[in-house]
Amino acid sequence: MSKPKVIVTRRWPKAVEKRLVELYDAQLNEDDHPLTVAELQDAMRSADAVCPTVTDPMTAEVLNVQPLRAKILGNFGVGFNHIDVDAAKARGLTVTNTPEVLTDCTADIAMLLLLAVARRGMEGHEHVRRKEWTGWRPTHMLGTKVTGKILGLIGMGRIAQAVARKAHHGFGMKILFVDPYPPAQNVVDDLQARRCESLEELLNDSDFVSLHCPGGKETYHLLDAEKFRMMRPGAYLINTARGDVVDNRALILALKNGTIAGAGLDVYEGEPDLDPGFLELDNVVLLPHLGSATVETREAMGNRVIDNLEAFFAGKTPRDKVV
Ligand code: DGY
Repeated sequence: MSKPKVIVTRRWPKAVEKRLVELYDAQLNEDDHPLTVAELQDAMRSADAVCPTVTDPMTAEVLNVQPLRAKILGNFGVGFNHIDVDAAKARGLTVTNTPEVLTDCTADIAMLLLLAVARRGMEGHEHVRRKEWTGWRPTHMLGTKVTGKILGLIGMGRIAQAVARKAHHGFGMKILFVDPYPPAQNVVDDLQARRCESLEELLNDSDFVSLHCPGGKETYHLLDAEKFRMMRPGAYLINTARGDVVDNRALILALKNGTIAGAGLDVYEGEPDLDPGFLELDNVVLLPHLGSATVETREAMGNRVIDNLEAFFAGKTPRDKVV
């Protein structure tokens, strides 16, 4: 029997590309260019499985091709707001993602941003590199203390819980959260966390606010000018979730006017294009979507995609089926 044809939209870590090539008639993206809509459509027409990632717009235009050969989208990434799941369902496609394996690394990046922006880590680094440092003095580059402060989490899924564990057990932070689907009581108890009645309550009561909700229509611009005014003037925003949860212009204004103290961002609306307003600010730390970017995690993500494909082609329900 011939092997299923699998098309991968971007380069994967070598070890997982090797496994993919051994198992399937795999088409890799040797030069790692982002596929155009036409190339994504071709993939849907010519492969049994297409493995997109979070930057590939798997829109109705892409999924509605004729004739459709693909039966499964094995997404490399946990977020799937770039996939039109209604269109996928309508075409009878199975969609899988890669949860769990990136939880800790993404939570680590949230902590890195939180510490870096509050303690002015990037500014300090640049200061030393530019040879501007003239020596220790009591008023030099003062930041904000992190230990013992209040951390408000918007969304309390796996990644938020991992951030809460690190922040609470490592930095003695008090944890607040909002989530329509709260975690089990033993998780809440372990973190001594408080569930807020409303987003407004969380924004009012937090020194740091960290986003952990999915992107998409329901959370589009959840944080806008009005919400920034609800935050404490000394508060910081951390975003490792999705860029479109935040209204960029409103955030830039809030950072400029001192409505909030600072922000640590790993994701942006319309990334990789960045609103140039961010580059003029000192009170923001900017990372290029590095949440899951470790060798260990990216290999684990690739293996998780392959495990999902293996189950699918064996006639079983893939472990990470989202549609
Ligand atoms: C995801 O998997 O959704 C991330 O944004 C990529 O790390």
